[in-house]
Amino acid sequence: MPFLASRLDRIKPSPTLAVTQKARELKAAGRDVIGLGAGEPDFDTPDNIKAAAVEAIRRGETKYTDVDGTPALKQAVVAKFRRENGLSYTPDQVTVGSGGKQVIYNAMMATLDPGDEVIIPAPYWVSYPDMVLLADGRPVSVACRENSRFKLRPEALEAAITAKTKWLILNSPSNPTGAAYTFAEMKALTDVLMRHPQVRVLTDDMYEHLVYDGFRFVTPVEVEPGLYDRTLTMNGVSKAYCMTGWRIGYAAGPKDLIKAIAKVQSQSTSNPSSISQAAAVEALNGPQDFIAAHNAVFKERRDLVVEMLNAAPGLACHRPEGAFYVYPSCAGAIGRKTPQGKTIASDDDFVTYLLDAEGVAAVQGSAFGLSPFFRVSYATATELLREACARIQRACAALA
Ligand SMILES: Cc1ncc(COP(=O)(O)O)c(C=O)c1O
Repeated sequence: MPFLASRLDRIKPSPTLAVTQKARELKAAGRDVIGLGAGEPDFDTPDNIKAAAVEAIRRGETKYTDVDGTPALKQAVVAKFRRENGLSYTPDQVTVGSGGKQVIYNAMMATLDPGDEVIIPAPYWVSYPDMVLLADGRPVSVACRENSRFKLRPEALEAAITAKTKWLILNSPSNPTGAAYTFAEMKALTDVLMRHPQVRVLTDDMYEHLVYDGFRFVTPVEVEPGLYDRTLTMNGVSKAYCMTGWRIGYAAGPKDLIKAIAKVQSQSTSNPSSISQAAAVEALNGPQDFIAAHNAVFKERRDLVVEMLNAAPGLACHRPEGAFYVYPSCAGAIGRKTPQGKTIASDDDFVTYLLDAEGVAAVQGSAFGLSPFFRVSYATATELLREACARIQRACAALA
């Protein structure tokens, strides 16, 4: 009898965390490596948020809290949804977990039975399919091509829906492409969903605040209130508030689902850190002006990276609406030979070549379900980005 459970054979360790880890190890070993794998802002958590955590410790808020969030944080989440999205929820429709990741995982564990299908537009955040698999569900990946700016088309959604479809997972702005849905694009999808009442929507709005060029973010229930009773609107403080290490994510949705999520959490991790919850209250209720300041920097970096990558022979890079990623195509490098005589046959080969030849760590598109592409995170100091892109240009020019 094998010791490790067979369910583990269905999944793989997070490839994005693996790239970050590999870059760290190479750096520690003395190699000059620039990591473009980071899924977190390089900015520090704002001081007012840190101070709120210190205050919470001083006040002795160091004990267990309610399993799925303190009343103060649920209240702050309710206010956030009303203020920023025009959505009306009560505190018992809100759940708080240790990161957005836990909220999504709990939702899958709470709802999926063997054979239940979850539609996941590709390229996707690496964890969605594996979470579905761990929960005994069946991920149904729907390719969203470059010519639709990596966005799900209504006809592709319609074609993917079956009697077994339980969820559609949407993520806008997207990790890994940065693509975000306009109101009209979202409405075209919600129109399809209105015809299929068995399909629930999990919308991962983690990158809501990271949009550029005046883009207006929308979330499905705001576009189609008819989906209110079957949508879990997920968000968190990790990205916009530079709080990835604090581990706070949240969601709002139907009460029975929120209760089921709390049940899973009550028998696994219990409440998220009491101190982090106090910090998240300050993040949501406190000043928001640093977000615009960060976005100005991110936009500049996006434009720099898009321009420099488009100047690299064999690469083509779109200019996305948000997040801090671009997803360039390396189709023009496939089939070409490295100076060492190795043929680049896939995006895996391409990113391995970038790391070996120039010490640039990016993530292969195969990890996100759409090849041949690679993901570049521009949540890194501008000068480092410039240097990394120059190295990528050099690596591409050296291919024969
Ligand atoms: C699309 C997306 N959703 C959710 C998460 C998880 O966020 P958290 O760090 O709050 O668990 C991430 C983090 O990389 C993400 O990119």
